[in-house]
Amino acid sequence: MDSASTTPVTAVIVVAAGSGQRLGYGMPKAKVPLGGDSILTHALRGVAAAGIARQICVAIPPGDEELRDLCEAFAQDLNTERQRGGDGGQFPVVTVVDGGATRAESVRAALAALLPDTVSVLVHDAARALTPEAVFHRVSHALAAGALAVIPVIPVVDTVKTVEATTGDGAAIAPELVTGTAARETLRAVQTPQGFELATLQRAHDAAASFDAGQAAAVTDDAMLVELLGVPVHAVRGASQSLKITTPLDLIIAEGLLEGPLGARWVEG
Ligand code: C5P
Repeated sequence: MDSASTTPVTAVIVVAAGSGQRLGYGMPKAKVPLGGDSILTHALRGVAAAGIARQICVAIPPGDEELRDLCEAFAQDLNTERQRGGDGGQFPVVTVVDGGATRAESVRAALAALLPDTVSVLVHDAARALTPEAVFHRVSHALAAGALAVIPVIPVVDTVKTVEATTGDGAAIAPELVTGTAARETLRAVQTPQGFELATLQRAHDAAASFDAGQAAAVTDDAMLVELLGVPVHAVRGASQSLKITTPLDLIIAEGLLEGPLGARWVEG
C-alpha cells in the first residue's frame, strides 16, 4: 500500500509518559522489556514501519533521560537507514517532549511541538506496542478520504452491564447492583492510533485545557474530546493484537504474540 502518497502531511504523537503502576514493574511502562526490547522501542518501530509519518513526537515522563536517549538512538537508526537509501518510504523526524500529569496533558505537550505545516495527526499509546501497520493505514486512509476524526475499534465479546454501589441491606449480599445491560452489537472497544485533522484536535484540546480535575480525570481518549465539539468520529477496524499492555497478563500475551512465527505486528486479525 503506498500510503505516503495518499495521506496529507501527518505527524504521529506517541504518548509514553505514563507511570505503568498497574504493570507493577516499578518503572515507567515505556521502559518495561518486551521480547528483548522496551515497550517504547516496539511502539516506535511500528509507527516508523507504517511509513505514514513525517514527524514522530514522543511524550516521555518529565526529565527521564533514559527514555530520551532511547528516542534519540531510535532517531539515529532511522537516519542511518535513510543514508543507506532505505526502502523509498518516509523517514520521519523524531521529536521528544516532556509529558504531563494526565494523558491529555501529554498530548497537549506534543501538539505544541509539531512541525508548522502539519495537516493531520495520529495519537498513539506506546502501551499498544504491537499495533499492526494495517491499522495505521486504515486510520490514515480515512483521514485522506475526508474524516476529521477516526478511531480503530474492535467488537466487544463480553456482555457489558452498568452497576452502582450497593447501599442498605443489599450491601451484605454483594458490593454492586446491576442497573442495566448495554446492547452488545452496538458496542466497540476503542484502540489507538486515533487520527484527526490537526485543527480539530487542537480545538478539542484547547477546550479541555480548562476542565476541572474531575472532568480531566474522565478523559480517557482524544476522540471523546472531539465528540464534545459535535464533530463526527468515524470508526475503522482495529486489531486484536493491538492490545494495550496494562497488566502483567497483557505482558504475557504480548510476549506470546512476539514469539509467534511472524511476530505479532505482521499478523492481521
Ligand atoms: O494510563 P493509560 O492506560 O490511560 O495510558 C495510556 C497511554 O497514555 C500510555 O501509553 C501512557 O504512557 C500514556 N500516558 C501519558 N501521560 C500520562 C499518562 C499516560 O503519556 N500522564
